[in-house]
Amino acid sequence: MSKVLVVTSGKGGVGKTTTTAALGAALAKAGQKVVLVDFDVGLRNLDLVMGAERRVVFDLINVIQGDANLAQALIKDKRVENLSLLPASQTRDKDALTSEGVEKVINELRSKFDWVICDSPAGIERGAQMAMYHADVAVIVTNPEVSSVRDSDRIIGMLDSTTAHAKKGDKIDKHLLITRYDPQRAARGDMLGTDDVLDILSIPLLGIIPESGDVLRASNVGAPVTIAEPDSPPARAYTDAARRLNGEKLEVTIPTERKGLLDWLFKRRVA
Ligand SMILES: Nc1ncnc2c1ncn2[C@@H]1O[C@H](COP(=O)(O)OP(=O)(O)OP(=O)(O)O)[C@@H](O)[C@H]1O
Ligand SMILES: [Mg+2]
Repeated sequence: MSKVLVVTSGKGGVGKTTTTAALGAALAKAGQKVVLVDFDVGLRNLDLVMGAERRVVFDLINVIQGDANLAQALIKDKRVENLSLLPASQTRDKDALTSEGVEKVINELRSKFDWVICDSPAGIERGAQMAMYHADVAVIVTNPEVSSVRDSDRIIGMLDSTTAHAKKGDKIDKHLLITRYDPQRAARGDMLGTDDVLDILSIPLLGIIPESGDVLRASNVGAPVTIAEPDSPPARAYTDAARRLNGEKLEVTIPTERKGLLDWLFKRRVA
């Protein structure tokens, strides 16, 4: 059964695009058919993170406007089978993303893939609404800081009121993903703890992704961290989150400072 998942946040720069790529690749590696859809019209970050920027010929708006069909616009990943990307357009005309057009494309993708993962733009405006409208499942990406948590709270309100499911009276399945978690800063009290975030947002926790240089290194080589550095702490956390999305019951571990130190020592020894 096909699921439409939106990766959303409200606040910008919290790790949505990183999460879309990493979760999508992890699900595809586990044998699921996955398409990543970039709704960030005008910015186009997902193709860069996926290392596909030179392969973009047609995009979501071209398909909506009938200038290309899906088969022409979808870019198949060369590293992982079952993983495709539908890139965003660089047009400045955000109104080109029409509700009818998005619905048609999402329905067609539903018939071809197990997971349709929509990377939302930041904010609560039209683009974000379009990205979440058809979602069955939402991953709310939140950094452990007050402004990010507050914006996530607003997005949760929107998910419960303005999506297709909400309009039919159903609630969509919501999961909290805490990203860029820095155990040292959390221990010093410079960041909110995971309990504080969970108390405020009170939705189930999908995972905690540690702050890590591996994420930037992966993005610099144009690969999701779950492909480029599959054994790194953030990739392991994303892979576990993907397994939870598939219904596995795995306990969430809070990254600790001690583990960071061990990793550091280990890396130095093998370096
Ligand atoms: N776990 C992490 N550790 C370190 N850096 C990270 C982590 N997650 C994301 N980043 C970095 O944070 C920056 C923002 O990430 P990303 O582009 O995924 O955020 P976004 O929410 O999609 O942003 P936007 O709202 O602009 O679309 C990037 O430079 C990314 O490499
Ligand atoms: Mg983004």
